[in-house]
Amino acid sequence: MKDVDGRTIYLKDYAPPAYLVERVELTFVLAPEATRVKSRIRFTPNPGTASRDFFLHGEELKLVSASVDGQAVTPAVTDEGLTCEVPDAPFTWEAEVEIAPARNTALEGLYMSNGMYCTQCEAEGFRKITYYPDRPDVMAVFTVRIESELPVMLSNGNPGASGAGFAEWHDPWPKPAYLFALVAGELVNHSGSFTTRSGKDVELNVWVRPGDEGKCAFAMESLKKSMKWDEEVYGREYDLDIFNIVAVDDFNMGAMENKGLNIFNSAAVLASPETSTDANFERIEAIIAHEYFHNWTGNRITCRDWFQLCLKEGLTVFRDAQFTADMRSEPVKRITDVIDLRGRQFREDNGPLAHPVRPESFVEINNFYTATVYEKGAEVIGMLKRLVGDEAYAKALDLYFERHDGDAATIEDWLKVFEDTTGRDLSQFKRWYSQAGTPRVSVDEAWEDGTYTLTFRQSTPPTPGQPVKDPRVIPIAVGLLGPNGDEVQETTLLELTEAEQSFTFEGLAAKPVPSILRGFSAPVILDRETDNAERAFLLAHDTDPFCKWEAGRALARDVLLRMLNEGAAPDKAFLGALSSTLADESLDPAFVALVLALPSEDDLAQAQVDAGLVPDPQAIHAVRERMRDAMAEALEDQLRAAYAAHQVPGPYRPDADAAASRALANTALMLLSRRDGGALAQTQYDTADNMTQQLAALSALLTAGAGEEALKAFEAQWKDDRLVMDKWFSLQVAHAEPGDTAATVERLTRHPAFTMKNPNRFRAVFGAFAMNQAGFHHDSGDGYRLMADWLIELDALNPQTTARMCSAFQTWRRYDADRQALIREALERIMAKKDLSRDTAEMIGRILD
Ligand code: PHE
Ligand code: ZN
Repeated sequence: MKDVDGRTIYLKDYAPPAYLVERVELTFVLAPEATRVKSRIRFTPNPGTASRDFFLHGEELKLVSASVDGQAVTPAVTDEGLTCEVPDAPFTWEAEVEIAPARNTALEGLYMSNGMYCTQCEAEGFRKITYYPDRPDVMAVFTVRIESELPVMLSNGNPGASGAGFAEWHDPWPKPAYLFALVAGELVNHSGSFTTRSGKDVELNVWVRPGDEGKCAFAMESLKKSMKWDEEVYGREYDLDIFNIVAVDDFNMGAMENKGLNIFNSAAVLASPETSTDANFERIEAIIAHEYFHNWTGNRITCRDWFQLCLKEGLTVFRDAQFTADMRSEPVKRITDVIDLRGRQFREDNGPLAHPVRPESFVEINNFYTATVYEKGAEVIGMLKRLVGDEAYAKALDLYFERHDGDAATIEDWLKVFEDTTGRDLSQFKRWYSQAGTPRVSVDEAWEDGTYTLTFRQSTPPTPGQPVKDPRVIPIAVGLLGPNGDEVQETTLLELTEAEQSFTFEGLAAKPVPSILRGFSAPVILDRETDNAERAFLLAHDTDPFCKWEAGRALARDVLLRMLNEGAAPDKAFLGALSSTLADESLDPAFVALVLALPSEDDLAQAQVDAGLVPDPQAIHAVRERMRDAMAEALEDQLRAAYAAHQVPGPYRPDADAAASRALANTALMLLSRRDGGALAQTQYDTADNMTQQLAALSALLTAGAGEEALKAFEAQWKDDRLVMDKWFSLQVAHAEPGDTAATVERLTRHPAFTMKNPNRFRAVFGAFAMNQAGFHHDSGDGYRLMADWLIELDALNPQTTARMCSAFQTWRRYDADRQALIREALERIMAKKDLSRDTAEMIGRILD
């Protein structure tokens, strides 16, 4: 077993840096195998600490020379950095190092992607570029000179001098090293401009490889919308003369908010109707906004240390969700976010990888860019806003920006701003940041003499390192409906602060039906004994779109579980409720599509575990298939009508209304392909003029078992488009039968276009594999073995992406002894690999623990 424990870093050990940086000058002489990086750094002793231990991070660097105030020095160098004798007074450090971007397959630091140079420094990648105090509480002004023959050379801030073979950049805003970026290559730009509300003109560019310039317009429009929205809603203006976005094909994550030079995974920026789906357009708009919003929440105010990651990520996710809700449908955004939260964050919170929104220790920070830090971090902010109200939230944010601009801040700073604005004591609320695990809230009702009482009990199960939890503040939005479906109590916010607490509603004429956790007002699991008649009633009548959808979801889950556990037939009442939903023309078609979507296989597996059962992934898969057949049969006429009614005429538009119609029509198409052998899907495939329609048709054809020809045609049509081919890979894995999934994955890895070096391509196959629960968890164990084989291979190239993919195994303890043994074997095989990365070793260690 790898020992990674010796390297654990603790929040409680935080100590301020011994030296601060006033300014940094960097010169890059670019060459694929031997780039020279010269640094000139002005250090001053930190008056805030007595320590004078001078340490610079540095990894995989060849030190060529170093000097202090012009005198050559010979520092003591280790694998992690260097130490050196320095004055207890301001001094200038100069060094020259050599690095090899062409050999950097980890995609961290300076690396090459399709002939272009680019960087990725968050969280600790800058130390692979030069020796530096690579920690976010050291903020400095950077000046950069790039030397190469490449036509485009970019860095942070505003452009300075440039000429044949060089370009200079100066960033006036002090920043931590993780926000440093450099790009150089043969790039073309789609340009635009934005005038800020105080009248400053900003040049905007989206830089891409030649050939992709036709796919930039949507990103540019999204950027302008984001800039305007942040001015209007948060009063935040942009602060440089130029804002550059670059699309990179090989990237571990979605995108990165480097100051003035955002670097994007090309999948998160390139868009065209022919190659991108509605979901892609929505995601691109959201990621552009997210990275742009970081300029204030992340860059101007950054994190003191990496334990505070949620300070920037939770807040920025919350802001981008608000933006999407404003640009599109608020209810649909909320419902899809909850589906995502439950599918990824609840799953994480419920297993060996559970950790608090603000973790207290880590081995490798890259392993903490998680659904908990991001998505639960955003939920915590949503709760805070609900508790203090919109007005106080706005005031607190103004104070946050005023008080902490230029700071490397903490969660304590963040909460203090709310305490000072509202006079509220947030010490109990703070448990949301320190306690891991998803609270379960059970609710009982009582009815007597016109008084209705709801009694809530909260508890949170133990998580790794946290056996006992204290009650949290849980905002629970509640409304009440009368027997005829009218709302008799509009939404009101109950604040649950005790382990057990009751709330009463008086003066009611009849016993109401409660609508609880409206808008999903807190990230908790609500346990309520109720029957399907009440769920169908809420699905039909609830005025809160989230609770309305949630009622349908609970109904579907119950019906599927009864099919699974008791061998029941598809429930007629459920099919009737779906029929009524389809018939209700007042509903947003995107909402209807969400009601028609069944709970995921993973969701059902967890529901079985909650009921004390051991899930059988193949049986779960079969039951969902059976239910979909029953839906297709029972609703066929209505689905045909919905399909026809929701065809969107005219040229493709990516807006929410058009996308909503397509979502419903394509949901109908998927079901109808179970009735007609794929005839309608084939027609749609043959006539589609956009990727949403084409991909949905291909998917429906695969469902009908009639997709072979279309798969070939699709490949022939799109073989030169990397992002579209990713879809082609994924779709085949997603549609593979349980017993055939591992073989399908194996076959695809032999396709000439498969490569481990491109994270998008690897994830297209293996990410889809992990999502195909019945295939991955097939009782043959082939899925586990194959995944382990490939993670072992990938780890040598790209530890970060390998470690993230290990989460496919995180639910292993819910399965039977045979599967557990097979998984353990696979995980131990990975762990035994020689030179396994720290990233992967930490993940496997935690999962097995
Ligand atoms: N900070 C980036 C974001 O949230 C995510 C990221 C993390 C990207 C680490 C690269 C590496 O937008
Ligand atoms: Zn972010």
